[in-house]
Parts: sequence; C-alpha cells; structure tokens
Amino acid sequence: MTPVARLRAIRSVTLCSPAATDAAEFYAEVWGLERVEADGGAAWLRGTGAEHHILELRPGASNGLGKIAFAVGSPREVDEAGRRLGALGVPLLTEPGPLDQVGGGYGLRLIDPEGRLVELSADLEAVVPRDPDGHAAIPRKLAHVVLNTVDIDAACEFYTGVLGMRISDWSEHQMAFLRCNTDHHVIAFNAAEWTSVNHVAYEMTSIDHFMRGIGRLRHHGQLPLWGPGRHGPGSNTFSYFADPAGLVCEYTSEVAQVDEDAWLCRVWRRTPELSDLWGTAGPPSRDVRTHMAGVPDPGHLQRSAS
Ligand SMILES: [Fe+2]
Repeated sequence: MTPVARLRAIRSVTLCSPAATDAAEFYAEVWGLERVEADGGAAWLRGTGAEHHILELRPGASNGLGKIAFAVGSPREVDEAGRRLGALGVPLLTEPGPLDQVGGGYGLRLIDPEGRLVELSADLEAVVPRDPDGHAAIPRKLAHVVLNTVDIDAACEFYTGVLGMRISDWSEHQMAFLRCNTDHHVIAFNAAEWTSVNHVAYEMTSIDHFMRGIGRLRHHGQLPLWGPGRHGPGSNTFSYFADPAGLVCEYTSEVAQVDEDAWLCRVWRRTPELSDLWGTAGPPSRDVRTHMAGVPDPGHLQRSAS
C-alpha cells in the first residue's frame, strides 16, 4: 500500500476534559507553555518552537482525545492525501480545504480505526520566536503522544500502511514506537483494555532544562508520578506528572535520532534495566499506571453526538 501522504512532524494535540480550564492554567503557569488564545473554555498553548500551538484544551464530559494534528508539506499534498484516503474508503470528517480554526492552515480531518480524529495540515500561521536564545527551561515542542489501543496490530497497520509512519521499535508486543521524521517516535501505541490517551510528552532542549523543569514542578509542590529516568527504546529521558485533569504529561529530552537508511527495528524486553536505564525511576507505580490507563474514550464521533 502506498501511504496517502508524507507526514513531516507532529504539530499538536487536543485534549478534552471537564477540568480543561484548570488544566490550561497549569500548562500556562507551571508547565511552561504560553497561552496564545482562549475562547469559551477552550485554550490554545504553544511551546518555544515554530508551531502556532502544540496543545489545545477543550471542555468535555470526560477526559479524552480531541485530535492529533500532523504536518504535511503543502496544500497540494493535503489534496492528494484526500484523494487517496477517499480511494481507500477512510472516512473524512473534513474534506481538504482551509481550516476554520485558531492558527488557520489548509488541511483535512479523518477518523482512524479506533475513532480518533486525525488532522493533516499545511500552511499554518507563523508565530514570533519565543525564547530565541534557548535559555528558558520550558518545552520547545510536542515530543510524542502515547495512545492506548485495544488492537495494537490494527493501529500500527493503519498508521504505517495508510499514514506512512515507520515502526522504530517494539517493547515486546505491548508497545510500538512510530516515527515520521528523524525523532525515534512521535506517537506510540500501548496495548490496553480500552482506547484512551496514555500520556503526552513535551520536549525540553537539553537534559539541564529537563531537570530544571522537574525542579520548577517541585517548587510548585508537584513531584513526578514516575521518574526522572531514561528509557531504553528511544533513549529519551522521562519524568511523568499528572495535570489537574488527571491526564499524564511528561518532560522528555534527547530522544534518539533515526538514520532512515541504517535504522533497524528491535524488540525490547520489558525488564527494569531496559525501561529505566539509569535505575533512578524504579518500576512504575499502580498510581501512574492508573493515570496512564485513563478512562474509556468513546471516540470523536460519539463524543460530539453526546
Ligand atoms: Fe513518553
């Protein structure tokens, strides 16, 4: 199967929650994002990088995924993706065209096999550089989103076969790490009892900033649910926290960079030495596992119908 598009990057994630307002306050005042816009309980927040926003928070009846947005190269590629998705019978929620949303852009929206809303977009509004010298210990961009799935093989089949992502590594048959550029993973699937968001990770530009970020959270009375540590697959540092909505957010840094022509996918055993290379984090607690499992997500169409 020829993929419908070449995804360049993960742009942003939209999270829905009854506690969206409190969560927005946390991400703006503590986590290090900047609010670019707010409207009727929804908020859009950016990092220091070039994306117009990396996180959108919307009010919702329960915690869930609103949307994941990926960048493609041009409106022409959006149009081509629309044609190919149509030929494959993938349901489009929004046909290719100008996007009526904060940050604008030209894009399309599709529904993946588990009801997640996925946006492919180009030509979003440019923003003025923030922290151009890179001194602030605040997130630059979205690093990755981990999604709980009830069918990890079907999820991988769709995101590789249709969307053209590549599997960088497996953690046994429990997790699959997928890339669309040189970052080892921009999304990962975790085999679970129900579909939900496992966590969202934000990239710090250095390990020093990563640690200073953890220090800032500590100053605000918040200790990591798990971490700090360094994972085996992807080699990235990790420190997981719970936001006021109970959703898990992560500071990460130094994710492995993949040379497309030389990379070989591996299957990692789920041992303490491989999940926590430094040995600083220990095994994940029941509490962090419960947070990462979240609540069953009915999917975009059912959520908008209710
Ligand atoms: Fe992560």
